[in-house]
Amino acid sequence: MPVVSVTFEPGGAVVPTPPGTSLLKAAQTAGIEITSTCGGRGRCTSCRIKFVSGSIPPPTIMDELQLGDDLVREGFRLSCQTVAAEPVTVQVAPPLTEEAFQILGAEQGIAAQRIVIDAGVTKRSVTVALPREEHHQTSDAEELAKAAGLHAPALPLELLRNLPAILRETKGEVTVATFGDRLLSVEAGDAAALVYGLAIDVGTTSVVTTLMELTSGEVLGSVGSLNPQAVFGGDLMSRIAFAQFNPANLRKLQARITTLLNEQIEEVCQTSGVLPQWIYKVVVVGNSCMHHVLLGIDPSYLGLAPYAPVLRHPLILPARELRLRLPHAIVCFLPIVAGFVGADAVAVALATRIGDSPEIRIAVDIGTNGEAIMGSRDRLLASSAPAGPALEGAQIRNGMRAAHGAVDKVSIEEDVRCHVLGETAPLGICGSGLLDAIAGMLDAGILDWTGLIQVEGRGRLPQKLRERVHMLGEERRFVLVEKGESGSGQEIVLTQDDVRQVQLAKGAIASGVIMLQRIMGVPTSEIAELMLAGGFGNYLSIRSALRIGLIPPLPEDRIRYVGNAAALGAQMCLMSETERARATHLAGWIEHISLAAHPDFQNVFVEAMNFPRSAPEA
Ligand code: FES
Repeated sequence: MPVVSVTFEPGGAVVPTPPGTSLLKAAQTAGIEITSTCGGRGRCTSCRIKFVSGSIPPPTIMDELQLGDDLVREGFRLSCQTVAAEPVTVQVAPPLTEEAFQILGAEQGIAAQRIVIDAGVTKRSVTVALPREEHHQTSDAEELAKAAGLHAPALPLELLRNLPAILRETKGEVTVATFGDRLLSVEAGDAAALVYGLAIDVGTTSVVTTLMELTSGEVLGSVGSLNPQAVFGGDLMSRIAFAQFNPANLRKLQARITTLLNEQIEEVCQTSGVLPQWIYKVVVVGNSCMHHVLLGIDPSYLGLAPYAPVLRHPLILPARELRLRLPHAIVCFLPIVAGFVGADAVAVALATRIGDSPEIRIAVDIGTNGEAIMGSRDRLLASSAPAGPALEGAQIRNGMRAAHGAVDKVSIEEDVRCHVLGETAPLGICGSGLLDAIAGMLDAGILDWTGLIQVEGRGRLPQKLRERVHMLGEERRFVLVEKGESGSGQEIVLTQDDVRQVQLAKGAIASGVIMLQRIMGVPTSEIAELMLAGGFGNYLSIRSALRIGLIPPLPEDRIRYVGNAAALGAQMCLMSETERARATHLAGWIEHISLAAHPDFQNVFVEAMNFPRSAPEA
């Protein structure tokens, strides 16, 4: 088969590539890292490359739309939209140097939840009677089980291998750790006080691991990082598409998350002085796709109607089966409700106690997927809508994650004022900044309720704002940061296409909530409380979210942030088997509303993409 050589800089790797193959695929196959946030659909800029030698192909529509005239003229192209045709050398554009991501941790712990601690892990010192008489038909394992008060416990092979030595070195004086009828470890001497666990929230964008002491519930450390799988797709559907019917790519995704978890485990252990062998219980939550991928289960059918998961029930298995470096731990996966309503949503429902409330409450977890849970102690409904990564800055011309240099707050009156994370020169705009900008543009009359940038009507605007609204070629745009003020030397703008991306994302989330209200027959006036959960949900301005119609028009005092509720729910299940059983009950009780299958959804979604014609009453 004829091939052409594609050289990737930095590094100079020469990749023999069949003509017609996208340069992104060629790089990924060769193990060269190119971020593909939109999963290679030409809807972002993360895979951009710069041609260094060889002829530069003409720009595709996607190149022009996403990169803009300047970068196209400079020889940049989207590697997912560019195919190999002749020998070329390309420079992989360094990912935007995003430092100090804003990741919502979970270090606040469970104290506020007032739960009874019963982690289910028991550790105690015992004396194992060593077999003495030849006629005494017994074994080390039987004597151990007797001493531990267990009946024929499942003894891991690793433990059996070390058992004879441990028992004789200690003359049978050992500490055993058990979880139910599982014997997790046998340690020399008295180590009964050293008993720890981990609560892990595997999000599509960020992963948070929290180390806790299992008798007191004290949080000893918590680390958060970006999910390294994101280079293969910034949102769920792109991630599923990457692994769909492709075992090698599934293994790549699984390896990425396992490696990260082992790094996080090492970090929390080092900072807290806890040894990995003293960790006995791990609780993992995440959406259904993250759940399946971590288990190495093919997620392909999660991405195809009827979006059925391979399993929904809770799962417990030894950590070593997941290649986690925790020799004695078991890992508990919370149950799933449906294809896109995963264990993270169950954990949110648990942490917010939404199923115990006499009044109607709503919890909305806003990420690349918007999950909504609504109800009371009488009934609970849940829906999930693919919001996409726009609210995380992807697919937005000057979008970026919430990191140093991101415009995260915007106010628009006579002119535009921006706050930048890290108090540094602005490099781009992140989700919370986007919402503020859109809300401010609506109030100032720069945007109408359909989302159209009012170039023709700019005459009515104050001078400073008027100068920021203009056409560039066919493109309507609003300049948020002038060239001279930005850290990239480029203007930071909001284009008409950016506004549409935000409308798609907010329309998806808003329509998910509206559909639940319709099906349950609950008018907004009867909603006692709306809780904002998740990374993005806790950094957005409630006033801006109301102004753009992302959430129902409730009085602000009935809306509150609930932090990383999914991680909190995982902590509750780590510290309490009663809570873990409650989570299993909730998962079986929550009714999943499949939005796509509902006849009204399309109309509700289209309507929800529009903005409210006026600001909500205060
Ligand atoms: S545009 Fe290529 S991955 Fe998004």
